[in-house]
Amino acid sequence: MATILGIESTCDETSAAICIDGKIHSNVIATQQVHEQYGGVIPELASRVHQQNIIPTVELSIQNAKIHKNDIDAVAFSRGPGLMGSLLVGTSFAKAFALAKKIPLMDINHMQAHILAHFIEAPKPSFPFLCLTVSGGHTQIVLVKDYFDMQLIGTTLDDAAGEAFDKTAKIIGLPYPGGPLIDRHARLGSPDRFPFPKPNIPGFDISFSGLKTSILYFLQDQTRQDPAFIQENIQDICASVQSRIVRILLDKLEKAATHLNIREVAIAGGVSANSGLRTELKALGEKKNWNIYIPKFEYCTDNAAMIAIAGYHKFLNQDFCGQDIAPLTRWSI
Ligand code: KG4
Ligand code: ZN
Repeated sequence: MATILGIESTCDETSAAICIDGKIHSNVIATQQVHEQYGGVIPELASRVHQQNIIPTVELSIQNAKIHKNDIDAVAFSRGPGLMGSLLVGTSFAKAFALAKKIPLMDINHMQAHILAHFIEAPKPSFPFLCLTVSGGHTQIVLVKDYFDMQLIGTTLDDAAGEAFDKTAKIIGLPYPGGPLIDRHARLGSPDRFPFPKPNIPGFDISFSGLKTSILYFLQDQTRQDPAFIQENIQDICASVQSRIVRILLDKLEKAATHLNIREVAIAGGVSANSGLRTELKALGEKKNWNIYIPKFEYCTDNAAMIAIAGYHKFLNQDFCGQDIAPLTRWSI
């Protein structure tokens, strides 16, 4: 029996989860509302809220799993990449807990954990598979050879996919994080109404900065002529932006899968909750005869279940770290 406590605190979610023998028994997520009014995460505020939330979040995860804290065999925590102040809270808590209970500690790469969320429940992909990881800070096409053997095939040269959603949302006056709100408006709009440009980037890398600029200029021009333009066309604007972002991502994913001759294809990270991306990936998977893997909504955005499951696989390898471990704001996959 292995009972793992997982801790996540890279950005603006404080989360704790309990994994027993590879099964998730609790996954508590405290999302920080304080950033909404600023249009983005304020690091100093994030770390303070993590400090307030960490103990009640862990206590609730233990309670929900119906275990006692003495039943925990090891602690896994997000070591990075993320915001230093936020990471310090989760890392310090995990280290203190492991020290007090005299149990092993496991450092987890947050971007690997997004991918390993696919091993929480069936259907689980088989190795090697290709994963498009799309979050607020990262956009990566990753060849996953084994649980902890991953190779970066392509990445964004500028903004992440989540940033493309969030920055567009800010331009049109929606609060942070704007991705889910764009998704909601897009469902009622026409994706072909405003044809935004497609970047021409060689290889498997991706760029969103040109798209972001063209959206900004387009909306500035239109509102100069008609101040109510955004309000009157919000559904079509969101649908057009979303379909362009999804096309950019899926074109590169298709190119990489074809090049590597891989038919096991997954998506992960916060933006994999996007309904347009999920629908279009299903259609592409059918066309290309791929086996596709799409995480449950609760395992797309930041959560500790993915940290706990990654910790479980490290535990099986007896791959532990020492108390001298420090967080990493940047950490390649
Ligand atoms: O993985 P995540 O929770 O945190 C990071 O590690 O960054 O991803 C957060 C990102 C935000 O940019 C948010 O707007 C985006 O995921 N997101 C979405 C949706 N749900 C979350 N973007 C588009 N459509 C959604 N439904
Ligand atoms: Zn994340």
